[in-house]
Amino acid sequence: MGTPLAYIRGVREFWSIPFTISPGILIPRPETELIVEKVLELSSRENETIVDIGTGCGNIAVSLAKELPRARIVATDTAMKALRLAKLNVSRQKISNIIFSRGSLFSALKRLRLEEKCDFIVSNPPYVSEEEWPKLDIEIRNHEPKSALVAGKSGLEVINKLIQGAPPYLKPGGCLLVEIGIGQRDKILSFFDSSAVWKKVNFFKDLNGISRVAMGKT
Ligand SMILES: C[S@@+](CC[C@H](N)C(=O)[O-])C[C@H]1O[C@@H](n2cnc3c(N)ncnc32)[C@H](O)[C@@H]1O
Repeated sequence: MGTPLAYIRGVREFWSIPFTISPGILIPRPETELIVEKVLELSSRENETIVDIGTGCGNIAVSLAKELPRARIVATDTAMKALRLAKLNVSRQKISNIIFSRGSLFSALKRLRLEEKCDFIVSNPPYVSEEEWPKLDIEIRNHEPKSALVAGKSGLEVINKLIQGAPPYLKPGGCLLVEIGIGQRDKILSFFDSSAVWKKVNFFKDLNGISRVAMGKT
């Protein structure tokens, strides 16, 4: 009961691309397109290395791979099921510039020796707190994976680890772009401020005027 339409149809459009999705994998949300939009604005369109951490069905990675055919995209996730689906979505597009590697946070980047090699690290990580989870729509709680949405007591645990862990993998002038939740801006600004490596920090608003994407530049 209350099964989201996207799971029934098995498809959800993102960045005007139809993505195959299945229960157990997060349904892409329209506000996440802001990450794609900002990377395209900032990209040199040359041979850049872009990493997507927590790729899910591959919506961000595939959209960027199509828009930036000269870029090399690395997509990671802890969930094998997500990576299988993301590979399926790649096979349905005419793209050959994505590789997948399973692992938590930066473990795949370490394995691939991407220290100081990344132009962009992007992520739509889990950012809901344990306290907020019971208040989410029943449709979400019954059908979407909690592990894709909830990040500890505060909801900020994964975002903080991304901000602390990204600098060694970014080139000088490289960017971390992370989707964030409503009301998280100030706390996240303090995470960036605690490390002197971030030369510039910016927040981008979604169509509802909510700070939705945090960007740190080294
Ligand atoms: C909010 S979903 C985002 C999925 C997709 N990128 C999107 O925008 O719709 C978060 C994803 O991060 C993955 N994830 C959770 N914790 C992770 C971690 N520590 N390292 C890598 N991926 C993680 C989840 O399996 C899930 O696929």
